[in-house]
Amino acid sequence: MTTVGIVGASGYAGGELLRILSLHPHVDVEVATSQGHAGENVFKVHPNLKGIADLTFSGDSPEEAATKVDILFMAVPHGTSNRQIPKLSETGVKIIDMSADFRFRNPADYPVWYGWNHTSPDILEKFVYGMPELHRNELKSCRFVAVPGCIASSAIYSLAPLAKAGLLKEVTVIDAKIGSSGSGNKHSAATHFSERYNSIRIYSPFGHRHIGEIEQELSLLAGSKITVTMSAHSVNMVRGIMTTASVFPEEMPDAAMVWKTYRAMYGNEPFVRFMMDKNGLYRYPDPKLVVGSNFVDLGFALDSHVNRIIAIGSIDNLIKGSAGNAVQSMNIMEGFDEREGLMMAPMRLV
Ligand SMILES: NC(=O)c1ccc[n+]([C@@H]2O[C@H](COP(=O)([O-])OP(=O)(O)OC[C@H]3O[C@@H](n4cnc5c(N)ncnc54)[C@H](OP(=O)(O)O)[C@@H]3O)[C@@H](O)[C@H]2O)c1
Repeated sequence: MTTVGIVGASGYAGGELLRILSLHPHVDVEVATSQGHAGENVFKVHPNLKGIADLTFSGDSPEEAATKVDILFMAVPHGTSNRQIPKLSETGVKIIDMSADFRFRNPADYPVWYGWNHTSPDILEKFVYGMPELHRNELKSCRFVAVPGCIASSAIYSLAPLAKAGLLKEVTVIDAKIGSSGSGNKHSAATHFSERYNSIRIYSPFGHRHIGEIEQELSLLAGSKITVTMSAHSVNMVRGIMTTASVFPEEMPDAAMVWKTYRAMYGNEPFVRFMMDKNGLYRYPDPKLVVGSNFVDLGFALDSHVNRIIAIGSIDNLIKGSAGNAVQSMNIMEGFDEREGLMMAPMRLV
């Protein structure tokens, strides 16, 4: 069995890691740390895990947790693991970091998108971007994984085949909608029920920090610099993300060609579904259809009036946008079947 620990296990991403890893056939969860809940049963904070995760939160420091396990998941806020991982990397532990602190290949992207300088660029280059469908081979032999951002994941999945096919020209425009769990478990005015309910709030009309990693990954696929702009909205959901991206190609492809590019990239992927139908209510991806699962649902539409490809993606932000990709990456690193622990059917929220 592979032993794992979760730092920040009282948070939303940590809770989803506990839910998935507690039922994983090849994993033992040895440590779940929480500074605020040390000594309490895990189910006190994550009541859905009663009878599933039979553990008590420990007050271990990340260094102490690292001595007890083979793999350490870091589920702490941005700007935290950046300070903790350099020390941890000197031990033998493998690290899967959920934050943005090790996602960029170029350290110069940190001041641009996060407003701070990266203090460990030498370690940065050892991290693999934990998106299995795009980085499977690198994940097989790595020790350090940086799990992608949630909105970035939905956007990258929907645009990657088009980027690889050379269809992204000029600027690609992304509209993103996200539920409240994307902000984590800290209360704020923005997540207060009375303020959030019935509201569609455009919290980032441009300049969202996930743009940096979207451009990084799409540029790698395209082999040239890709530029995107994005408007992000908080909407009346708890879980889920939907991205609708507008691509303006030089020459409009037909539907058969677009299908071919998507199938070439994702045809054999266990967690990518095409959600497209000519009629019915659910003709395109909808977050409601992926909640609770590791699936990413993709679809597209072609608007020949203005030569626009509309690329649509939906994920559960806490699973395919976080804990699910973390576990899928771990499965690849450890040589397990990639689907282990992750074949949950989505909830039908009716
Ligand atoms: N929420 C999402 O949809 C999502 C999606 C993708 C990626 N992520 C990333 O995943 C990470 C965790 O996000 P989350 O939504 O789970 O956040 P969260 O609900 O706020 O939980 C984070 C946990 O980290 C611990 N913590 C807080 N400050 C800390 C510090 N300075 N040092 C050590 N531990 C600290 C807290 O637990 P204790 O105080 O009890 O120790 C807290 O419960 C973040 O980097 C986030 O950006 C989140």
